[in-house]
Amino acid sequence: MARITAGLTTSHVPAIGVAIDQGKEQSDYWAPVFAGYEWTKKWIGEERPDVIILVYNDHASAFSLEMIPTFAIGCADQYPIADEGFGPRPVPTVVGHPGLACHLAQSLILDEFDMTVINKMDVDHGLTVPLSLVYGKPAAWPVRVIPLAVNVVQYPPPTGERCYKLGQAIRRAVESYEEDLNVQVWGTGGMSHQLQGPRAGLINQEFDNEFLDNMIDNTAQLRRISHLEYLRESGSEGIELVMWLIMRGAMGENVRELHRFYHVPASNTAVGHLVVEPT
Ligand code: DHB
Ligand code: FE
Repeated sequence: MARITAGLTTSHVPAIGVAIDQGKEQSDYWAPVFAGYEWTKKWIGEERPDVIILVYNDHASAFSLEMIPTFAIGCADQYPIADEGFGPRPVPTVVGHPGLACHLAQSLILDEFDMTVINKMDVDHGLTVPLSLVYGKPAAWPVRVIPLAVNVVQYPPPTGERCYKLGQAIRRAVESYEEDLNVQVWGTGGMSHQLQGPRAGLINQEFDNEFLDNMIDNTAQLRRISHLEYLRESGSEGIELVMWLIMRGAMGENVRELHRFYHVPASNTAVGHLVVEPT
């Protein structure tokens, strides 16, 4: 049977992708950011997951603002890299796992999560930057990826509670898939950041660190955070953190923290990163 072996969260700041693509990982500014992923790179080399269910948000790259699904799952064979204004990032095409993805779509919809099914989609920095942070610069990604896109771009995004429950449903779905697969769930985005308006540049280290603490053993607290509280405490883009709760829900009740990293700043945001395993 397929099984979820680990979960990972990470910010997906586009400037990190630019730094990697331009070979600036060792610069004074970027070296401390990449240092936080060294442990993870070694770990993933040992874990070798077959599939990552990669929870992220499209930043008006694939969907535009004309159609915005709340929850969408990629069932395609592969996903080209999106052109976000400067040409596509020079990274390999992302290869999907249509078998597990279609099973997830069916299982989640029958479990009353009304997923949008995606059969063709370009993927943007929200998905490719986490892959680059963890896998570096391979000629081909050594893992299949199922994109799971969440609307956190235009109000109203889903609640943290709903995201957590979707994670629980993902766990049920994976565990009912017959093929023997090592599956990880990644939640991306965050941490506190605001890219526009009078509070542009807002970073709230106290909020972020409490969020990281609670990801391990106080999800009840995180699931209660309202949209207004995210906006007030973590800036207008801090709402991306609800995607971390999908990963957390997919781990089951208890997890063990394997790795934790927090750094300020990277571009306009705080970078947060966790690796956990279900216990
Ligand atoms: C930026 C964009 C993002 O999507 C994000 O999650 C963090 C930062 C940015 O433009 O700096
Ligand atoms: Fe983002």
